[in-house]
Amino acid sequence: MSVNEMIQDAMTIQLDYELPEYPTFTAGIRRAPRRESHMTEADKALAIKNALRYIHPDHHEQMAKEFAEELETRGRIYGYRFRPAGKLYGKPIDEYKGNCIEGKAIQVMIDNNLDFDVALYPYELTTYGETGQVCQNWMQYRLIKKYLEALTDEQTLVVMSGHPLGLFHSHKLAPRVVITNGLMVGTFDDQEHFNRAAALGVANYGQMTAGGWMYIGPQGIVHGTFNTLLNAGRLKLGIPKDKDLSGRLFVSAGLGGMSGAQGKAAMIAGAAAIIAEVDDSRIDTRYTQGWVSHRTANLEEATKIALDHQKAGNPCAVAYNGNIVDLLEYLYEKNVHVDLMSDQTSCHVPYDGGYCPQGLTFEQRTEMLDKDPEGFRAWVDKSLHHHYEMICKFHEKGTYFFDYGNSFLKAVYDSGVKSVCKNGENDLDGFVFPSYVEDILGPQLFDFGYGPFRWCCLSRNPEDLDKTDAAAAEYIRTHNRRYQDYDNYVWVRDAKKNKLVVGTQCRILYQDAMGRMNIALKFNEMVRNGEIGPVILGRDHHDTGGTDAPFRETSNIKDGSNIMADMATQCYAGNAARGMSYIALHNGGGTGIGRAINGGFGMVLDGSERVDTILRMAMPWDTMVGVARRSWARNENAITTAVEYNQKNKDTDHITLPYVAEDSIIEAALRAVEA
Ligand SMILES: NC(=O)c1ccc[n+]([C@@H]2O[C@H](COP(=O)([O-])OP(=O)(O)OC[C@H]3O[C@@H](n4cnc5c(N)ncnc54)[C@H](O)[C@@H]3O)[C@@H](O)[C@H]2O)c1
Repeated sequence: MSVNEMIQDAMTIQLDYELPEYPTFTAGIRRAPRRESHMTEADKALAIKNALRYIHPDHHEQMAKEFAEELETRGRIYGYRFRPAGKLYGKPIDEYKGNCIEGKAIQVMIDNNLDFDVALYPYELTTYGETGQVCQNWMQYRLIKKYLEALTDEQTLVVMSGHPLGLFHSHKLAPRVVITNGLMVGTFDDQEHFNRAAALGVANYGQMTAGGWMYIGPQGIVHGTFNTLLNAGRLKLGIPKDKDLSGRLFVSAGLGGMSGAQGKAAMIAGAAAIIAEVDDSRIDTRYTQGWVSHRTANLEEATKIALDHQKAGNPCAVAYNGNIVDLLEYLYEKNVHVDLMSDQTSCHVPYDGGYCPQGLTFEQRTEMLDKDPEGFRAWVDKSLHHHYEMICKFHEKGTYFFDYGNSFLKAVYDSGVKSVCKNGENDLDGFVFPSYVEDILGPQLFDFGYGPFRWCCLSRNPEDLDKTDAAAAEYIRTHNRRYQDYDNYVWVRDAKKNKLVVGTQCRILYQDAMGRMNIALKFNEMVRNGEIGPVILGRDHHDTGGTDAPFRETSNIKDGSNIMADMATQCYAGNAARGMSYIALHNGGGTGIGRAINGGFGMVLDGSERVDTILRMAMPWDTMVGVARRSWARNENAITTAVEYNQKNKDTDHITLPYVAEDSIIEAALRAVEA
């Protein structure tokens, strides 16, 4: 018996023997640019050999040629032939096959991440953030589905960078799926090694909820952006807590996967906004959804519409089809005062297509990426320098600029501008403009434990979502302690009116530890009573405890531990120990390879007592690990939250709290030693 015959006999779960028909590609669906990878001939051979591991040997000759062609033209092997024909979307859960509810629910979430209406480059399995993928290739997609169909409630599926390693025996309270993406050994933990590994087919960039299978369309970030803008207005523009941003101008860039939320969030917060976007097809999507109110490629017109609305105190979001640097130059020349400014181009991967340099159209950018990636780098660097220069000029005139977690300032630094660093030398102490987490989201939300809790109604029935919205709003109304609660109440009360759903029937709602647990228990009770169908809970990885990222989520950690990744790892391990339905741990996230470790979870509510037990253990842990760490870093609001937690949970939990030393005592001690 040959090795391959032995292998075939030993696998009961594998791709079908017959090769599927090569699919046709629907016109007008965005396609990923060619991905960079410096591969030797030996690397290319290895990549093809790796991909053929999924394929029956009878088809190796044919598929080797197809894979070689994909590697050459796309820089990656996606295995297009294995993409199921037609539109993928998160269907009602009952339409999926499976031996346990989690196996079916997770298929809904995967398909939602690949929906043409949701995903950035659906043919390349890319959900958002330019490179964030569900898994690496369509062979993996098919195989994961087969495993999820077979999965029982006493097994755990292990997925490593998109590759389903196999089903292993576990128990009913264990996670059904454990996912890791792009975790690399320290010495090799950089973009170049990652690109090679991805091209070899051994690394997936999971971003956060792309490879964590918990993306809910741009709604996921609308709430966070709304909170950030509103609180920036309160903290930096002196807007009272009961007022919004009407009469204020916000300018930014990007209307893509997540950045597409900016216009909508600005309008909900009452602002007039202009958002630059080089890719007209992105503007099409946001305009059709009603997430931007106006569109134009004319700078004068864009400015006039925004200023008219600003003057009248009416919200608007104008999509300007062009480069952000051109927009900034124009506004500066016309002496337009901008209150709030940000950027949400994909600067965590500026040289891979994430940032379109001034002077190149979107089409020219795509062509140059393919033909002259080195030349493209030089264009990006030049544009970033000038972009930063323009932001500084606005700053001098009173604009509040914040980095919105896309590594913009890091990209400026990497392009050679040292003056962007707080210490003028390197990025260890952060940058001259604080990130939104450092200044706003960290102290005002994360330190209290408020973060992006979310849920999806697996029935795809909008009425289920209405009922869960109402239940969540009622909970917050009766537990209104501070202005953050009121903001969240208004958000969920008006969520339906604001038409936020794209894809499955999902909702995001910032909540703290106890809010998340109590709302989750309420939903599980509603499932039990037959008021709604099953629900899956999750969150963005961009949260209080889920992510270690010194340029973003943990940028307001000032005890030197911002470069450590213990918290995110503990959060993930703790969620596994407490039985979340699935858990994910990733390298990279929104700030790029080597710059973050982030994790998330999915938790299926089937109405059972078992789920109640898991929720009571896991929901507080998932958030309080972050509050406890932030408190240990001496963050004031986190200390008060941890103190309150210790008092309320003294029979079950205990958080170590920091004594805070006077600076004068330490200075005196150091002076005494020097003397
Ligand atoms: N703060 C957060 O909570 C948060 C959350 C998710 C993502 N992010 C980060 O935000 C960034 C954007 O994410 P995304 O999912 O929207 O990515 P995306 O790639 O889908 O969208 C970015 C958009 O910017 C446009 N663009 C690029 N350069 C431009 C330029 N010079 N002028 C005008 N438009 C330009 C692109 O055409 C694209 O549509 C990423 O770096 C991501 O990691 C932040």
